[in-house]
Amino acid sequence: MSVGARSVRLDAAAKTDGSAAYAEDRVPANALWAEVVFSGKPHARLLALDVAPALDVEGVVTVVTAADVPVNEYGLTMFDQPVLLGLDHTGRSLVDPTISRWEADKVAVVVAETKAAGVAGAAAIRAEWEELPIVGDLDTALDDATLVHDEVASNRYHQLRIRKGDLAAGWEEAAVIVEGTYEVPHQEHAYLQTEAANAWVEESGRITVETGGQWAWEDQQQIAHALGLDEHEADDAVRVVYAAVGGAFGGKEDMTLQILMALAARKVAVLGVDRPVHTRWSREESIVGHHKRHRGRIRARLGATADGRITALEAEVELDAGAYNYTSNKVLGNAHLSVAGPYEIPNVHIDSSAIYTNTVPGGAFRGFGGPQGAFVAESQMNKLAEAIGIDPVELRRRNLIDEGSIGVTGAEFPAGVTIPEVLDTCVERAHWTQPLRPVAPFSPVATLPPAAAVRRGRGVACGFKNVGFSFGFPERCEAEIHLHGDDDAIEPSEVDLFHGGSEVGQGAHQAFVQMAAEATGVDADAVRGHFADTATTGDSGSVSASRMTFMAGNAILGAAEEAEKAWRDGERPAIGRFRYTPPPTEVLDPETGAGQPNFCYGYMAQVVEVSVDTTTGHVRVDRVISTHDVGRAINPRLVRGQIEGAVVQAHGYVLSENLVVEDGHILNPRFSGYLVPGIGDVPETVDSVILELGDPNGPWGARGVAEMPYITYAPAVIAAVHDATGVWFDQFPLTPSRVLAGLREFATVKR
Ligand code: MOS
Repeated sequence: MSVGARSVRLDAAAKTDGSAAYAEDRVPANALWAEVVFSGKPHARLLALDVAPALDVEGVVTVVTAADVPVNEYGLTMFDQPVLLGLDHTGRSLVDPTISRWEADKVAVVVAETKAAGVAGAAAIRAEWEELPIVGDLDTALDDATLVHDEVASNRYHQLRIRKGDLAAGWEEAAVIVEGTYEVPHQEHAYLQTEAANAWVEESGRITVETGGQWAWEDQQQIAHALGLDEHEADDAVRVVYAAVGGAFGGKEDMTLQILMALAARKVAVLGVDRPVHTRWSREESIVGHHKRHRGRIRARLGATADGRITALEAEVELDAGAYNYTSNKVLGNAHLSVAGPYEIPNVHIDSSAIYTNTVPGGAFRGFGGPQGAFVAESQMNKLAEAIGIDPVELRRRNLIDEGSIGVTGAEFPAGVTIPEVLDTCVERAHWTQPLRPVAPFSPVATLPPAAAVRRGRGVACGFKNVGFSFGFPERCEAEIHLHGDDDAIEPSEVDLFHGGSEVGQGAHQAFVQMAAEATGVDADAVRGHFADTATTGDSGSVSASRMTFMAGNAILGAAEEAEKAWRDGERPAIGRFRYTPPPTEVLDPETGAGQPNFCYGYMAQVVEVSVDTTTGHVRVDRVISTHDVGRAINPRLVRGQIEGAVVQAHGYVLSENLVVEDGHILNPRFSGYLVPGIGDVPETVDSVILELGDPNGPWGARGVAEMPYITYAPAVIAAVHDATGVWFDQFPLTPSRVLAGLREFATVKR
C-alpha cells in the first residue's frame, strides 16, 4: 500500500544536507546579474526617467525599461499592475504606468556583469517625481479624497454582499447580543528562500525562466501576456521550470521576478549578447517587494436566544488590499464566508470590501482570508458563550453545521460535513471537561516569575477551509502517466508521472508519487516523477487553497485508468493523460450572495492551553490539540508536518509578528525587527489528531490540510488568554506590551 504509508519524502535528504538545488544554486555559467530597481515611492508621478547614466557605469550591459514591455500590465486575477513604470511606454496597458502606487513598484532592471555593477547602475538612474498624497491606511482610503487607481471610481474597489433571512426578526428573537470591532495585522511569509530566478533565450527563440513559484503554467501565461503573445503561442515562446523551492505559503502565488527576468533575457538576446541572466532578492528586497497577508478591520454583531441558538449575524469586513489587487478579490471572498463560522444562522447580513491604499499589497497567505474571518467568528462565539453563561463547546454544538446544512450563501454544504465529530474528538483529546492539568514552570528564562504571577487558561476554536479555487473558477488539474514493461508483462514495472504541481516544502511530490504508485499498482520507488515544467507537464493549477492533493490525486487516478487501457491494448509505454474537473462552483449573486461557492471543505478544531506571565506580558503556549478531518491521509507523516508547521506559523501571527507600515513604507523589513518565532518560542506540545472520514469526491477520500491548522489558532489563543486573564483582545499580535496594556486597562475597569 502506498496511500497511507508514512514514507520519508523523496526530497528529505537533499533538503537536509544542503544538496537540493534552488534557483540561486543553479546560476548558469557566464550569467549576467539583473538588478531590479524599486521606485521607493508609495505614491508619486514619474516626471522624468533617465537611464543613460546607468549605461555609462562600467559593467552595465543594458537597462530594461517600460519601453521594452509590449503589454505593460499584469496581475493574477486583474490586470491592474504595470510591469515597469515609465514615460516612454508604448505598449498597451489598462493601468497608468507613470504613477508609482507602492514603494516596490519597479522602474527598471539593470543588467550587468556583476551585482556590484548592477547596484551602481541602479544608483545612477535619474528619476524625477511629483509626490502625491499617500493613502496610508483604510480611513484615509475610505474618504476617497485621493484615488490610488484613477481607473476605478473609489478606493473601495471590490465589494461582496450576503443578504439572508430577515435580520430585524433575528435581532427581535435574540436575548443576548455581542458586538465587536476587530483589527487584524499584516503577516510576512518569511519563507527561507527569497525570490531568485535564472533566465535565458534558447536557440529556438524560446525564453526559459527557471525560478520557484506555485503555478508554473500561470507564470508562463503571465509572461506571455506581457510579451503580447496569445495563450496558444505561449508554449513555443516561453518555458517556466521550477528549481527547488524554499517555501511559498501563498507568497509565491503572484509574480515577482518572472516577467522581469523574461524581459531581461529577451533584451540581452536582442542586443546579440548570448548570455543568461540571474538574480536573487535580499531579505529586505523580498519583504518590501512581495505581498502580505491582508491587514483589515472587521465589525461584527451576533445575536442568540437565552439557550444559545444563534438568531442573527451582521458583519462588515474591510481588507486593506494595498496598491494592487493581487488576489485580494478572491481572498475577500473567503474572509466573507468564514466570518460567519461553521454555524447555521438563519438571518445574515455581511458586507465585505477590498480597499486600495498606497501600501504593500495584500494577497494569498496560508488560509487565504480564512484566518481573518475565523478570528472574528470564533472570538464572537467565545464571547457569546461567556455572555450567555454556557460552555463554549456546548454553544458550538447547538449551532454547528451538519450533513445537509445550508450555508450563508443559501447553498447546501457539500456532502461529507464532519465538523461535529471533529470538534467532539478534539475536546475529548483535550480533556476539556476536566480542570486544566499543571505544566512545568514557566519558561527557560533566567528568572522564573513568582508562581502567583502566572495565570493559565485554555481556549477552543473550530472551522472549515474550502479545498480548491472557489466562486465559479474553472478548476482543473492535469496528469500524464507512462507505464513501462515488457510486451508480455501482466503488470508494469516502472512508471513515469508528469505533473505540473510545485513542491513548495509541503511534500506534494511525495504525495503525488505515492498516489501514482497506488493507482498503477507499482511500488513507490518504481515511480519517476517529472514536475513543474511547462515544457513537459500540463496545467496543474496552483499549489494553493489546500487543493493539490485532492486535485492531483483525481488527475492521477484518471491518467492511470487511461494508461491501463492503453496497456491492455498492448501499447508500450502505455500512456494515459487526464484532465480532472471537480464539481462546478458558482459566482455569488452580487445582491444576495446566493450561490454554491465550493465543492469540498476540510474541517478542524483546536484547543490551546496557555500560561500568561502577568508581570512581563509574555504568553507561552503549553499545548495545542489540533484535530483535522483530512479525508484520507495519503502520508500521515506529511500531514503531521503540515499541522505542526501551520501551528508555528499561526503562532507568530497571533503572538509576535508585527510588521510596521507607516506612510506606505515598511519600516522593519528584517528578521531582527520582525519577529518570526524561534524554536524557544513555539508551543511546547502539538498533538496532531488526524481523522480520515473521507470526502465523497476526494481521491481515496482525501480532502486537504495545508491551511486548516493555521486558521483556528489565533482565536483559540485569544480565548485561552482571556480564560487566563479575563481580558478579550480584539487586536493582535499579543506582544508583551499589548498584553500588559490590556491587563492594566482591565484592572482599571474592574476597580
Ligand atoms: Mo494559498 S494562501 O491558497 O497559496
